[in-house]
Amino acid sequence: MKITNMKNSINIAVFIIISMSLTSCFNKKTPNYRYMPNMYTSVSLETNGEHEILPNEQVNILPVEGTISRGWKPYDYENTIEGKALATAELKNPLEVTDKNLEQGKELYTIYCGVCHGDKGDGQGILVKREKFLGIPSYADKGRNITDGSIYHAMMYGLNSMGSHASQTDEKDRWQITMHVLDLKASLNGEPLWSDTQKESMMASEDEMSENKSSEEETTSEEQH
Ligand code: HEC
Repeated sequence: MKITNMKNSINIAVFIIISMSLTSCFNKKTPNYRYMPNMYTSVSLETNGEHEILPNEQVNILPVEGTISRGWKPYDYENTIEGKALATAELKNPLEVTDKNLEQGKELYTIYCGVCHGDKGDGQGILVKREKFLGIPSYADKGRNITDGSIYHAMMYGLNSMGSHASQTDEKDRWQITMHVLDLKASLNGEPLWSDTQKESMMASEDEMSENKSSEEETTSEEQH
């Protein structure tokens, strides 16, 4: 019993001496010991730096295959003769014909297309007049059978010496431009504006709907009496 008591008090004394010697040297003004400093100061990865832990040692890596940017919708028609024919035949403008869409379409057309195709769409843009660019068709060219789909397709991929306009316009821009091109085509052909005929047919169908509605209302109000 006695021996264990002795051992205990020696242990306690040693403990006290060690802890006193440790704490007596402690100075609040100097930095303390840091164990595992990575926990305090993490390794920073520079935005454009080279780092072994990353593939190709680069921070800048390509997005995963199949990634699309926000707001971008995949375009299902291929850049082939068949793809073009299919788009020409079946691709339709999803936007409603409104003055705002038409106005914006005209503005965008003037920015992106007018230099080559001309403000009237007759293929006489300023670059053609100055003989910088040749072979630009008129939208009224019968052999081309220009439709909603073919205009959109031409903007997506370009066509021979016409470059693609897919990167500088978004989907809505392209459909707004398409509306303006169809108007230009109609004017070149001496026909009433495409947008006017669209609006008229829309109004006619709305009239029909409201007629149906009002007759429905009549019946309900009759029922109420
Ligand atoms: C650098 C001049 C240039 C610009 C800018 C340009 N085009 Fe073209 N475009 C052409 C040429 C050249 C062709 C004829 C290509 C061919 O058939 O070889 C063409 C053809 C077309 C066609 C006919 C496609 C078909 O099916 O035959 C359409 C529609 C068209 N362009 C629309 C546009 C629209 C819309 C814009 C603006 C977003 C635009 N283009 C901008 C040069 C241009």
